[in-house]
Amino acid sequence: MGMLRAGIVGATGAVGQKFVALLQGHPWFTITALVASDRSVGRTYRDAVNWIGTTGIPASVASMDVLPFRDNLPCDMIFSGLHASVADHAEPTLARAGYPVISNAKSFRMHPDVPLLIPEINPEHTSLIKNQDWQSGGYIVTNPNCSTVGLTCALKPLHRRFGLEAVQVTTMQALSGAGYPGVSSLDALANVVPFIGGEEDKLVHEPNKLLGTVAGGVLQPTSIRISAQCNRVPVLEGHLECISVKLSTSASREDVVDAFESFVSPIKGLGLPTEPDQLLHVFEDEQFPQPRRHSDLGGGMTVSIGRIRPCEVLDYKFIALSHNTVRGAAGGAILNAELLVKQGLLHARADKITPSEPLT
Ligand SMILES: NC(=O)c1ccc[n+]([C@@H]2O[C@H](COP(=O)([O-])OP(=O)(O)OC[C@H]3O[C@@H](n4cnc5c(N)ncnc54)[C@H](OP(=O)(O)O)[C@@H]3O)[C@@H](O)[C@H]2O)c1
Repeated sequence: MGMLRAGIVGATGAVGQKFVALLQGHPWFTITALVASDRSVGRTYRDAVNWIGTTGIPASVASMDVLPFRDNLPCDMIFSGLHASVADHAEPTLARAGYPVISNAKSFRMHPDVPLLIPEINPEHTSLIKNQDWQSGGYIVTNPNCSTVGLTCALKPLHRRFGLEAVQVTTMQALSGAGYPGVSSLDALANVVPFIGGEEDKLVHEPNKLLGTVAGGVLQPTSIRISAQCNRVPVLEGHLECISVKLSTSASREDVVDAFESFVSPIKGLGLPTEPDQLLHVFEDEQFPQPRRHSDLGGGMTVSIGRIRPCEVLDYKFIALSHNTVRGAAGGAILNAELLVKQGLLHARADKITPSEPLT
């Protein structure tokens, strides 16, 4: 297979930068277009971006020009790191122009014909793509909210083994989840902000779509009752979640631990480059997991579980930790694209626009 050409819209943002970093040396995808707002257009990527990564701006993109948003970009597929207000219009424009759009924005996550995808959880939901009618071969696939990802990866083995009736989750979410510059330093430092706009609603609804089944081309969500409380805490990367669950059937603690530890992802063996060896890592040390120590596990793609114990109100409670800009954003989206390639849904475009051609 030749390299597929990847465009990044919102390339200068927090998630866009993570795409740039994670795609370096990717065996299947190469970056051929970087798109941002009028503020950045016409400048080189090096000049436009306020690079917040700990390694330098990759040389392969530093001198690329930042392009304006348009529907004829020199690429086979688009990774979107746009805010919903821009994605609402931009992503359908790109899908209509024939591009597969692999999005991080919330705009189309809950649309019945748009897969909300975590490859290890619901790879079969990509069958919804054929319901999308952009008359062009383009489509939109989304990844979930960054706190939904850790929660749903933890819930899936429990739901499969025991059934789930109710979930109570309290999140402690990293500052990088708010983008850059994000939360004001006076609000963030030595403080906790007990509100993240729109977040609790996403945690209530997105897991039910992810854990749902597709039959006859229609998605049937689960109806697990979920209650969420979301907090912004002064952590750089990694969303920690305190989760309590009510199971449909009784289980011992050993059964619960075994459900996590023996979970085998349905994409195991497909050879997707970004898939971690282990989706879930269970800690027995009750001090773990911790964001600073464990967010990077599995290259930021592993979800850590710890402190599994009986719950005095529901059945069991535990901690889950996931990397919000890798597993919860760019890394998750890249894994989605890899799955689409393996499923034969993402390939080189016939009408090749090369990077050197002037864009009209
Ligand atoms: N941060 C996270 O952990 C996280 C996790 C999951 C999902 N998400 C979602 O990912 C998206 C991006 O978040 P972020 O934190 O990366 O935001 P951000 O840092 O504010 O970046 C926004 C990006 O969009 C670009 N942009 C703005 N208006 C544009 C336009 N009209 N045309 C083209 N590009 C435009 C900006 O370019 P300029 O630099 O030129 O202004 C910038 O590159 C959001 O939908 C967010 O909800 C974020």
